[in-house]
Amino acid sequence: MAKNDELLHQEARSLASPSRIKYFDLVIAQGNGALLTDADGKEYIDLLASASSTNTGHCHPTVVQAITQQAQKLIQYTPAYFANPIAAKLSTRLTKLAPITRPVKLAWGNSGSDANDAIIKFARAYTGRQYIVTFTGAYHGSTYGSLTASGVSLNMTRKLGPLLPGIIKVPYPDPWQKAPHETTEQFVNRMFEAFKLPFETYLPPDEVACILIEPIQGDGGIIKAPTKYLQKVYEFAHEHKILFAVDEVNQGMGRTGKWWSIQQFGLEPDLMSVGKSLASGLPLSAVIGRAEIMEALKAPAHVFTTAGNPLTAAAALATIEVIEKEDLLHRSRKLGRSALTFFQQAQAKYDFIGDVRMYGLNGGIDIVDPKTKKPSTEIATKIIHRTFELGVIMISLRGNILRFQPPLVITTAQLDRAFTILDQVFSEEAAQKLRLPKNASELGW
Ligand SMILES: Cc1ncc(COP(=O)(O)O)c(C=O)c1O
Repeated sequence: MAKNDELLHQEARSLASPSRIKYFDLVIAQGNGALLTDADGKEYIDLLASASSTNTGHCHPTVVQAITQQAQKLIQYTPAYFANPIAAKLSTRLTKLAPITRPVKLAWGNSGSDANDAIIKFARAYTGRQYIVTFTGAYHGSTYGSLTASGVSLNMTRKLGPLLPGIIKVPYPDPWQKAPHETTEQFVNRMFEAFKLPFETYLPPDEVACILIEPIQGDGGIIKAPTKYLQKVYEFAHEHKILFAVDEVNQGMGRTGKWWSIQQFGLEPDLMSVGKSLASGLPLSAVIGRAEIMEALKAPAHVFTTAGNPLTAAAALATIEVIEKEDLLHRSRKLGRSALTFFQQAQAKYDFIGDVRMYGLNGGIDIVDPKTKKPSTEIATKIIHRTFELGVIMISLRGNILRFQPPLVITTAQLDRAFTILDQVFSEEAAQKLRLPKNASELGW
């Protein structure tokens, strides 16, 4: 038995299945930049960046050095009781980077999920109001608060109720809701009417603490809300003294070509959550917000034993340094433009490629049935499996959307190689040469 298979077999005896979303039988042993090596020594180009949590690439030397040096000094002393120099430095750095007018403060967490719980906690405490408004298609995490705020997979709430009370969902203005005859303005107005409906019928605005949104949804399919729509929601929030909070866990840290995705809209949030690539994938998250909101709770309302520990803080400082020194924001935009060209050319050639969205090096590519133009999970699954066989890692979202989020340090040669392989796979699909894997029904979200 190959090493990959043997290890997976062994692990399956003890690992509970809800903690792994199945795609490929892969055991990752090593990483370097945008390259991965599996337990059998096979090399892959990574177009997933560990779910956008390694924007600076795998084992970036600057990050590795910072972690190694810090590990020799101090790995952990709980920030819940005492400060450490490196997290103190990081808190200044990160609050300055936040797109919020100062004074700004932050609180540490261990995951994107708890940072979104923190948004709920601080927003409720500051406003004295109970309701939180979130969007369909959102993924905010796996803790009770953040999964209640999410709306992208039935398996995330099935068997788990009662969920956190006081969370109301409104429809996200995704492109599939737009009628063919509608102009963008008509679409925005219609979606904004749908947004306001709860407020006009059963949800008193003066009892709503915050609106939490991914300005560009990640796991929902890499979808950008129309700017005009977000402006209207923002104005509505301000008019009713509702806090405007953004989830930057997936789309922050340079992913879209700016530090934060909300900067694509020119809006200033009251609160934001950050995680994933913040410490190049070490478990560190933060909720960042206007200082007066961040002072609305009293300790120990939001402490975690390991959150903001010296090791993760050292990784985060090094990550920020790499993004700046290597100008990864510019790189994300530049490579994103060539990726857009590649996928648009593929769209013109292959009738199973539907909508193509790209915001920085960050895209969602819809795979559709050529005849009906409806989402085709079957074709998308065949494509990602053949791509995997040929040494490129890319997964699907919502069944039929190709998720394209390579590390921002990917070289142009690696990207070109990935495009050559993708084009080969698309042409094999067009020639009806691709087969579904046997376990297709168990795969994905
Ligand atoms: C937008 C967004 N928010 C929150 C989370 C949850 O982060 P974590 O898995 O670190 O808890 C994710 C994870 O995919 C995410 O994409």
